[in-house]
Amino acid sequence: MITLPEPPRLVPPTAAVRVSYLTGEQADCVLDGRSADWLGPASEDFEGHAAARRGVLTRWGVPSSIYWYVAGEHYLGTLVIRHELTPELAVAGGHIGYRVVTAWRRQGHATRMLASGLVEARRLGLARVLLTCHPDNEPSRRVILANGGQPDQTLDEELRFWIDTHPLP
Ligand SMILES: CC(C)(COP(=O)(O)OP(=O)(O)OC[C@H]1O[C@@H](n2cnc3c(N)ncnc32)[C@H](O)[C@@H]1OP(=O)(O)O)[C@@H](O)C(=O)NCCC(=O)NCCS
Repeated sequence: MITLPEPPRLVPPTAAVRVSYLTGEQADCVLDGRSADWLGPASEDFEGHAAARRGVLTRWGVPSSIYWYVAGEHYLGTLVIRHELTPELAVAGGHIGYRVVTAWRRQGHATRMLASGLVEARRLGLARVLLTCHPDNEPSRRVILANGGQPDQTLDEELRFWIDTHPLP
């Protein structure tokens, strides 16, 4: 197992993790059976790839912020905060989405990454956030519960939870 040089933290997408990001995402494309074609242009202009993901973007029809979970040159995963809900996101998707690169899973990273994401959500002015997951996604359900998720009504088979973000120190 690789020893990380420092505790991972959420940062805006950065070219500092180029090799680790491309390697991890390519491996996950193979594992998931997804096309890795998008990695070609990302590899050629990685700073452009990262820059296009920084700042407030419009995704899912709402203002959104993308963070990468990073330790030194290592990229471990991505967390997205949607600043608002649409009727669709209120059913599935919620305010916060995340994934950890397969090679880094089952080490508590997603649990800690969401904890950091809740701080960022508070900075964005969100006093409470909605998280959803499919009933089959036990790891994600555990991540949400470990961060204080309070169950709400299940809609369209999607488990839904609210988490109060803590006031900033
Ligand atoms: C869900 C996901 C982010 C979890 O990442 P992770 O870094 O492995 O999560 P953690 O290490 O913090 O583990 C969280 C809990 O799930 C458990 N867990 C993790 N992987 C598991 C697995 N494959 N099977 C059973 N339990 C698992 C851990 O043991 C831990 O349980 P605990 O809190 O009782 O100790 C990761 O599996 C992933 O990226 N999945 C694909 C994308 C996704 O589903 N995103 C969420 C959409 S709602």
